[in-house]
Amino acid sequence: MMQKIRKGIGAVLLPFFLLTLPLTSSLSFAGSQADSGKELTTLYRAARKVISKNQGLINEKRSGKKLTADYVIKNALVNFKDATGHELDMGDDPLGGKKAMLAAVRSVMDEAQDLINDGDVGFKGFLPAIFARQVGTAFGKNTGGKITIKLTAPKKYVRNRANRPDKWEKSIISGKFAKSDYEKGKPFFEDASVKGKAAFRYILPEYYSQSCLGCHGMPKGSIDITGGKKEGGVLGELGGAISLTIYK
Ligand code: HEC
Repeated sequence: MMQKIRKGIGAVLLPFFLLTLPLTSSLSFAGSQADSGKELTTLYRAARKVISKNQGLINEKRSGKKLTADYVIKNALVNFKDATGHELDMGDDPLGGKKAMLAAVRSVMDEAQDLINDGDVGFKGFLPAIFARQVGTAFGKNTGGKITIKLTAPKKYVRNRANRPDKWEKSIISGKFAKSDYEKGKPFFEDASVKGKAAFRYILPEYYSQSCLGCHGMPKGSIDITGGKKEGGVLGELGGAISLTIYK
């Protein structure tokens, strides 16, 4: 009797299941890209945070510092877990993005060792944003250009032309993130082509905290420790965005 009922349910559900299969698999594909976007941007930030935390150490005039590639990766993974509540799962990396990100952090930190351990120079210009730009460049190489990541900013606040927002980034930053009713910290993602190539794009807004204002704050135009001009930004203001592209 039970078996008959089960079979009956199976027969009723099977056609329904088959019908919905293409729909659910395309939905979960979009979902998995959004998940990749979230994981990779979180990992990128987690690594940059290790550099922020150790800015004082970087600026010391001495050698033999602990800030090796291994140290940065280990602490980036701790920061990732703090941010997401789970460990980074390297076993689930179909696009190879996580591996490419950790390899990028490793190469940038290996390259930076001589500078970081220079006993004659205090302020070395090795900053979170510089680290982020270098990691972004190395990451793009590691993925063969299939996935790219960059730190960008509202157009009026861009310091380094290499970080300029492109058209799509500009439109999301000014058309969504900068609006007063846009939910703080919420990423935006969609399919959008880049120079004619189909892609999935994911962008995450970032805001000035107190620690940023020494360089990006007031008075506007005054010179910061890096020799650059301060942007005149204020606490909590939209200051930048992390932009990730996955080419199809
Ligand atoms: C010690 C000075 C300093 C501090 C502190 C600092 N920045 Fe920057 N920031 C810079 C410099 C210099 C650049 C240009 C980096 C480059 O050449 O790519 C930059 C670049 C950026 C960019 C990339 C876009 C651009 O303008 O080129 C963003 C976004 C950004 N900073 C946000 C922040 C945020 C958010 C904080 C605080 C969490 C922060 N910065 C703290 C100096 C600083």
